[in-house]
Amino acid sequence: MAEIPNPGPPSPGQVLVRVLARPIHPGDLLGVRGPAGAAAGRPITPGVEGMGIVEATGSPGDGPPPGTRVAFFPAPGAWGEFVLARTEFVVPVTQDVPAATAALMLVNPLTLGMLMRAVEDALRDGRRTVVQTAAGSSIGTLVNAAAHRHGLRLINLVRDPAGAQRLRTRFPETPVVTTTDQDWPDQVRAAADGDVPVVLDAVGGELTADLVALLADGGTLISYGQLGVGSTALEALPLTRRELTLRGVSVGRWRLLPSEQRAEDVAFATRLARERPELLAVAASYDLGDLAAALDHVARPGKDGTVLLTSPIPE
Ligand SMILES: NC(=O)c1ccc[n+]([C@@H]2O[C@H](COP(=O)([O-])OP(=O)(O)OC[C@H]3O[C@@H](n4cnc5c(N)ncnc54)[C@H](OP(=O)(O)O)[C@@H]3O)[C@@H](O)[C@H]2O)c1
Repeated sequence: MAEIPNPGPPSPGQVLVRVLARPIHPGDLLGVRGPAGAAAGRPITPGVEGMGIVEATGSPGDGPPPGTRVAFFPAPGAWGEFVLARTEFVVPVTQDVPAATAALMLVNPLTLGMLMRAVEDALRDGRRTVVQTAAGSSIGTLVNAAAHRHGLRLINLVRDPAGAQRLRTRFPETPVVTTTDQDWPDQVRAAADGDVPVVLDAVGGELTADLVALLADGGTLISYGQLGVGSTALEALPLTRRELTLRGVSVGRWRLLPSEQRAEDVAFATRLARERPELLAVAASYDLGDLAAALDHVARPGKDGTVLLTSPIPE
């Protein structure tokens, strides 16, 4: 692997963190393979989240002092050995939270918060049925756990029977439909007692047209990922006639939320990391130098949880 440059000393308002563990998120791979990095033709260090130890502060009293164990997000370059993070995006983490949990305690729980707010905005007429795609993903697991708390009637959609079986075991009360079944849209409508007010979608591509067809008039498709292949033409979607809403959600915009909302989201994520670490599952950990094996693992169908890249704790 190419040598990753040290990001240099922190400026005021920043801390330098020695990174000990960082997740490989699907979004990191879009950043690596996608047009943003490639077209610009310049090397980028991927990663946005992780955990580690504060090494230095930009000026005395700037954020947590050196030696503090922290989680951080967003901090571009988290796959490096060191990363610069703005102090408002660094969260001290107590020793009772394992390093592996701390490494992924922010992005997915913060995304969950944004998704649930989008769902609440979209639901109307007292109908609380939500269909979610890629339901066995790490985010899908958090949505399943949150559905009861939010009083949602959730229907899980997955791409194969093995994934459906895993979800039935984990969340036996929640209906699961498999898109390999030809009549899957009918199965979803049967489980929903009709059309669906909200679809939460991380697959996109050619599945979008079928998902839009499931929506009730006035319904909302919330798009937050693009795991799928192919495409659906936007002008072919009956947005006008059926008054449908297409809404995007990105945790990349979380940093722009009001500070009170961000504090509430971080408090939720911290609670989750301490009380429900099983909802932040780690599929496997690989040394940072073993990136190829880690990426192989990420691509495995049926992977359960998130793959981490780790660095040894210095002597
Ligand atoms: N918008 C945001 O801010 C934001 C933030 C975080 C994550 N995300 C997105 O959320 C999605 C899930 O992320 P994650 O970290 O939770 O993922 P993850 O834990 O790595 O799980 C990926 C899941 O996607 C399923 N999958 C993969 N390709 C698929 C396809 N072509 N069709 C249907 N299902 C497919 C896999 O199913 P199998 O079990 O069958 O392999 C697996 O359940 C990703 O699209 C990611 O980019 C978005």
